[in-house]
Amino acid sequence: MTGDELSGDPFIRVDDVAMDYRVANAPVHALRRVAFTVTAGELICIMGPSGSGKTTLIHILGGLLTPTQGRVVVGGRDISHLTDNEASAYRNSTVGFVFQLFQLMPYYDAIENVALPLIFSGVPAPVRRERAREALTAVGLGHRHSHKSGELSGGEMQRVAIARALVNRPCLILADEPTGNLDRDATRTIMVLLKQINTGSRVTILVVTHNEALSEYAHRTIRIESGELV
Ligand SMILES: Nc1ncnc2c1ncn2[C@@H]1O[C@H](COP(=O)(O)OP(=O)(O)OP(=O)(O)O)[C@@H](O)[C@H]1O
Ligand SMILES: [Mg+2]
Repeated sequence: MTGDELSGDPFIRVDDVAMDYRVANAPVHALRRVAFTVTAGELICIMGPSGSGKTTLIHILGGLLTPTQGRVVVGGRDISHLTDNEASAYRNSTVGFVFQLFQLMPYYDAIENVALPLIFSGVPAPVRRERAREALTAVGLGHRHSHKSGELSGGEMQRVAIARALVNRPCLILADEPTGNLDRDATRTIMVLLKQINTGSRVTILVVTHNEALSEYAHRTIRIESGELV
C-alpha cells in the first residue's frame, strides 16, 4: 500500500464493472458499467434503493464474487480474476466484513468469535486469545469476553463482529448495512466506532446503508440505482 500512496494510485479502482446473475436462464443485470476510485483511508457510504446492487458490489470488492465484466484493483492487485484459493487468501489478509445480522457463532463466546479468523491465518491459540482480547477492548467490550451472542445486546453483537473484522488487521472494511437492525443510539455508537477505526488506523471503510443521516460520518457518499452509479 505504501507504494500506491507514493505513486498516488487509488487504493481501490473499479473499472467498467458489470455483474449479471442468471436465474432460470434469464439474466439479472445487478451492476452495469460501474466505475469509481477510492483513496486509501477514505470512509465512504454506499446508498441506494433495495435491489440496486449494493451487496453485489460489496461482495465483488470483498472477493466473494467474480464480476461478469470489468476490473477491480485493490491495493495495487487485480482481484477480479482470482482462483478460489487466491480469493480466500485475499479476504483473509486484506478484508474485514461486517454484516447486518452480525453473523456470530451462537455457541462461541465473544473471545472465540473474534479469534475465529485467526485460526484460518494459522495463528497459535494463545496468541489468538490475546489478539481477540485486544480487539474486544478496542471496541469497548473488554468486560464482555465470555458472553455468548444471546447474552449481548444488538449493538454489542455488532461491536463483537467489528472486533472480529479487525482482528486480522485488514486494510479494508466492508460493512453491509451494519446498523440496519439497530436503534438510533446503537447506530450512533457503531458509526462513531467505525469513524474512530478509520481515523486511528487509516483503514479504508465502505458502509452500505439506507440511512441518509449516516452520510455525516463519511468523507463521501456513493449512490447507486438499478445497478448504475448516479
Ligand atoms: N445470487 C443471486 N442470484 C440472482 N439474482 C440475484 C442474486 N443476488 C442478487 N440478485 C439480484 O441482483 C439485484 C441486486 O441485488 P443486491 O442484493 O446487490 O441489492 P441491494 O442493493 O443490496 O439490495 P438491499 O438493499 O435489498 O439489500 C437484485 O435485483 C437481486 O434480485
Ligand atoms: Mg443488500
